[in-house]
Amino acid sequence: MYRSKNCGELRIVNVGEKAVLAGWVQKTRKMGGMTFVDLRDRYGVTQLVFNQDVNSELCEKANKLGREFVIQVSGLVSERSNKNTHIDTGDIEILVEQLNILNEALTPPFTIEENTDGGDDLRMKYRYLDLRRSNVRENLILRHKMTFETRKYLDENNFLEVETPILIGSTPEGARDFVVPSRMNPGQFYALPQSPQLFKQLLMVSGFDRYFQIAKCFRDEDLRADRQPEFTQIDCEMSFVEQEDVLNIFEGLTKHLFKTIKGIDLNYNFPRMTYADAMKFYGSDKPDIRFDMKFVELKDHVSGKDFVVFDSADYVGGICASNCASYTRKQIDELTDFVKRPQIGAKGLVYIKYEDESSIKSSIDKFYSQDELRSILSIFNAQSGDLVLILAGEKVKTQKALNELRLEMGSRLGLRDKNVYKPLWVIDFPLFEWDEETERFYAMHHPFTSPKPEDVQFLDSDPGKVRANAYDMVVNGVELGGGSIRIHDSKLQNKMFELLGFTPEKAEAQFGFLMSAFKYGAPPHGGLAFGLDRFVSLFAGLDSIRDCIAFPKNNSGRDVMIDAPSVIDSSQLDELNLLIK
Ligand code: AMO
Repeated sequence: MYRSKNCGELRIVNVGEKAVLAGWVQKTRKMGGMTFVDLRDRYGVTQLVFNQDVNSELCEKANKLGREFVIQVSGLVSERSNKNTHIDTGDIEILVEQLNILNEALTPPFTIEENTDGGDDLRMKYRYLDLRRSNVRENLILRHKMTFETRKYLDENNFLEVETPILIGSTPEGARDFVVPSRMNPGQFYALPQSPQLFKQLLMVSGFDRYFQIAKCFRDEDLRADRQPEFTQIDCEMSFVEQEDVLNIFEGLTKHLFKTIKGIDLNYNFPRMTYADAMKFYGSDKPDIRFDMKFVELKDHVSGKDFVVFDSADYVGGICASNCASYTRKQIDELTDFVKRPQIGAKGLVYIKYEDESSIKSSIDKFYSQDELRSILSIFNAQSGDLVLILAGEKVKTQKALNELRLEMGSRLGLRDKNVYKPLWVIDFPLFEWDEETERFYAMHHPFTSPKPEDVQFLDSDPGKVRANAYDMVVNGVELGGGSIRIHDSKLQNKMFELLGFTPEKAEAQFGFLMSAFKYGAPPHGGLAFGLDRFVSLFAGLDSIRDCIAFPKNNSGRDVMIDAPSVIDSSQLDELNLLIK
């Protein structure tokens, strides 16, 4: 037996007992004739004591222990005179009688403590050491608990967990696929699934009724803080349901996770917002509704005053920041620089400071009288002390920039508290998205999403107007999940493919199996997938989903620990019938 207790287990009630512990040496301290060792394992840290006067040989051995040595000790649990209130085992220590070095360790390249001195790259390279740090480990424990509670909730609601293949065929829609060459079929490739979408729909045709899977998904897209090339979905599908049924079940799952994991009761119906309103009032399909500061459209109110920036813009809109009229020149300049960053792309920023009734200061007071400025302020319902910030330009671009400015102001004003959670359903997404570059429509969600029945009439005449039975769950400005009610009628599905520019041959080649399955009795069905990594990060208050993934990739999609991707042997290439260009 390597141990009788773990390093997080012993308490004051155990005083007087003998214990055997095993773990890693976190640190050693020598104080006079005493040597103290912090022994760490997954469960916690326990203090070990070696006394020169009691056993000098043993104490000498302890003095030679290096950081991260793996040791086993046995000794007597005793009460600490100098208690440590920061750790659960802080009332006790072990008076060591036997020390067994199980394995020595090189000095780690960074300190294995909550606040480590190791930079990102170094920690990624030695991820197995990084994972010894308690905060990183806590994130993975949280992930385990969330997955476990998810399985429990879905099982209680009759969902069956079914695995679907990882080696599948490439599909042209969505993000880029990762592909895998097939040795047995020279010149042919598998693709890794971007999601199990088609398989879960087939499971509905097979009569499984309610499916879920904690599914690995792969997308070759540009990476960001909330995107990894391989990530995990809580993927679900249900038969004989309408949108309302799906929203209810997954609102229930969200509440269940908040309650069981965070102890937070969200005992109200989550608000719903149409995509159109989300864009109009927040310039984003994932509005952060922890704070208000909605957009106000101004074009009709401000045109015709010879201010060319507003006159020539097709959109003029602003936000009102409470109690910010005292912003200094420097602060306004900072905000102006912020909106002018290339990734945000505004040309400039107009402000109106409503200091008090008699003092309204603005960057446009050459063009607008005090009365005119006052009337603009009244559209915002501004109070004295408020600051109005206005952007103008091409509509979509300007709304996006105003969204960034709103989030920035929310952060500056402390309105985006990580411990406050505001869930929201965004509904009624458009079915199609127009792409300027390729001049064609794309499915906004995916090609299997059904149009709203009342909008089907516009499919031919005005596809851009057609809304979908598609929905996203947004919490604090993060898109946690999304889904839709699917098309289960092969005629309508064919029509979708046609509108998306697929020839019947191409549609047959890509999705023939689905189309033929639909001819054998497909039930009405729909579903949703949550991004598990994003859900865990939200609960853990992380800035990047990387921190809740055991072995993540860096921003260039590399695993720097195992050094992947990597070149492969020419013999392996030969076997796969491949030639590198
Ligand atoms: P969608 O593409 O919206 O829908 O993905 C669902 C959720 O998965 C998460 N997500 C990601 N997380 C981390 N890294 C990524 N690269 C990444 N991409 C997406 C997001 C997102 O909301 N098959 C459909 C679902 C359905 O219709 O049922 C789908 O995959 O949290």
